[in-house]
Amino acid sequence: MTAPSITERTAYWQEAWSTGDTRWDAGEAAPALVDLLSTSADLPKGRALVPGCGSGYDALALAHAGYTVTALDLVDLAVFRFRELRQNKGLFSHQAEAHIADFFAYNEGPFSLIWDYTFLCAIPPSLRTAWAEQMARLIAPTGELVTLIFPIRPEDDAGPPFAMSPELVERLLSPYFTPKTMFPVPRSHPARQGREVLARWMPRNG
Ligand SMILES: C[S@@+](CC[C@H](N)C(=O)[O-])C[C@H]1O[C@@H](n2cnc3c(N)ncnc32)[C@H](O)[C@@H]1O
Repeated sequence: MTAPSITERTAYWQEAWSTGDTRWDAGEAAPALVDLLSTSADLPKGRALVPGCGSGYDALALAHAGYTVTALDLVDLAVFRFRELRQNKGLFSHQAEAHIADFFAYNEGPFSLIWDYTFLCAIPPSLRTAWAEQMARLIAPTGELVTLIFPIRPEDDAGPPFAMSPELVERLLSPYFTPKTMFPVPRSHPARQGREVLARWMPRNG
């Protein structure tokens, strides 16, 4: 299957942002990320990457927890919203910066932590192998990729968001990463309850 071009993909997301069709935006950081940050002292510290950051609630939660965060989104409106929220939360650009950039072309790693939530499920399925390769390129050897796998549902062709499963993500990542932990999260946004699994992945070359 041929992937849509970057111009087509940008136009798709630009349209969603400019018409306010941002139904994915939960208006707060993912409860599973908040819990992870408050309970997992063993998470690698340092630089964090959030691809497809949207408004940036998760990226800003990472900055609040002490990470130096790089957040990427294809759409300028997302980046403007991110900066507005950052200011509201009393955070600064040296703590979290968003860039209008394509994750697949980004090469300013390495990162100690990469957080994927509602990004893998948003990209065309034909780009999933490239997603895994790019994660492997950007992670530090002692870093961790953390994926909040959502929406868990039986496979179909509908999306975005496209159906996800822990097995699918493991299949994509297994050439480059080994799972460290993987569990259904106890807390989610109310409408997403029971459809999220958190997985932490260590690079194989670490
Ligand atoms: C479903 S939204 C999720 C946003 C955010 N993670 C959240 O949970 O609110 C997906 C976001 O990814 C962005 N996006 C899609 N493809 C991208 C790419 N190749 N590089 C960077 N951002 C991308 C879109 O513009 C959109 O804002």
